[in-house]
This record gives sequence, structure tokens and C-alpha cells, in this order.
Amino acid sequence: MAKSCKIAASVLAADFTRLGEQIQEAEAGGADLFHLDIMDGHFVPNISFGPMIVQAVRGLTNLFLDVHLMIEKPERYLEAFALAGAGMLNVHVETCPDLRSTIRLIKGLNLQAGIAINPETPFDKIKGLLKEVDRVLVMSVHPGFGGQHFMADVLPKVIEIAEAAEIDNPNVQIALDGGVDSETTRLIVQAGGNVLVAGTSVFRAPGGIAAGVRSLREAAGLP
Ligand code: DX5
Ligand code: ZN
Repeated sequence: MAKSCKIAASVLAADFTRLGEQIQEAEAGGADLFHLDIMDGHFVPNISFGPMIVQAVRGLTNLFLDVHLMIEKPERYLEAFALAGAGMLNVHVETCPDLRSTIRLIKGLNLQAGIAINPETPFDKIKGLLKEVDRVLVMSVHPGFGGQHFMADVLPKVIEIAEAAEIDNPNVQIALDGGVDSETTRLIVQAGGNVLVAGTSVFRAPGGIAAGVRSLREAAGLP
């Protein structure tokens, strides 16, 4: 499992006055992709950024961009994020009354599709769609802010998803988002998580961004 693990650097924690340098440092340190958090002030209490910033990041790196839509009625904006250069769109089950059709819309744009689930949302709510998606994004904090503590009580859900994935969709990514650092990485990988979304532990690492990525790679058993 650890060999296929990927590090997604979450741009929310970057210094936006030096975004270009910060993206380069994360890439040089071994980030595999970038994660972009879109917050609307409705579904979550915070407001972050929109397609313009995704497009700006698209111009700064060739790495894959995954976009995490923490917004109500996400179907209104799928195309805008596709045009901005996203490779994957993650939508919350809690915001999609007809999740299957939202996933089809994403696939219709030739993008990968992910389902994000809040800490208190059981896997049962999305189990029937596991075959249809490229990723399950398990929130390990209440979405809305970076820098929160990892909620270890989501780990049994990760194990449950990993077990179901073996039967239904062995290639599905199981991503953890929130409070991921070199300590919690060990627990995540053990439970079956294989994409580590990390903001604070990358962009605000005391030893610098590249060192932050390297210590996550080491914790995940990656070269
Ligand atoms: C939280 C976001 C996360 C956030 C993670 O709502 O979805 O992607 O950037 O930040 P850290 O790594 O600081 O917990
Ligand atoms: Zn996120």
C-alpha cells in the first residue's frame, strides 16, 4: 500500500504573496500533486478562493491538480474548474442530493471524480458509488480551516473503505484530508489511506516546505 501512496500538497496553507516559489519548493521536495480547497462561506464557514487561483496554480506547475469543492450546489461550477485546469473534482456527499448525476457531470468533463465525506458521515452513504469514482476523500477534520488536529476516530471508516475497495474498486484512491503530518501519516497508511492531503505540515513546516514534504514521504515509506 505504501508504495502507491501520494502526497497532495494543500495550497490553502501557502504564503499567497509568494505562491510561485512555494509551489516550486513543494514540487522540488517531492509533492506528487496539489490540492486546492474551494470554500464558499455557506457549506463551510470560511471563504477561500475560486477558479482564478486554480488557473494561476495551473500556470505554475505541471503536476496534477485536485480541487476540493466545499461549496453548495457544486454542479454550478464544475465547468469553470475544468477550464481552470483541474484534473480531479471532489464533491461532498453532504452537498449533492443526486450524487450519481454530479459524478456523471464531472466524468462528462473528462475529469477524475472524487467524493468527499465529512467526519461524521458514514461510509454507507456512498458505498454504492465506490465503483463510479476515482477517489474517496475522507475528511479527518471538520472542513473549513487548515491547521486543525487530526481526528483519529475516522480511521475505522478508512479501514472499512479499504476493505470495500478491494472488492468493488481496487484502484480507488483513499485520501485523508486534515491534520495530516508525519505522526498521523503512519496511522493513515496502516489503515489503508493512500493519498495524504497536507497543508500546514508542508507549507508551514519549521524546516521549510521541501523538508516538510520529505518528512511526510519518509513517514509513508516513500523514496
Ligand atoms: C480543510 C481542507 C484541507 C486543509 C488541510 O477544510 O479541506 O485541505 O488544507 O489543512 P491542514 O493540513 O493544515 O490540516
Ligand atoms: Zn481539502
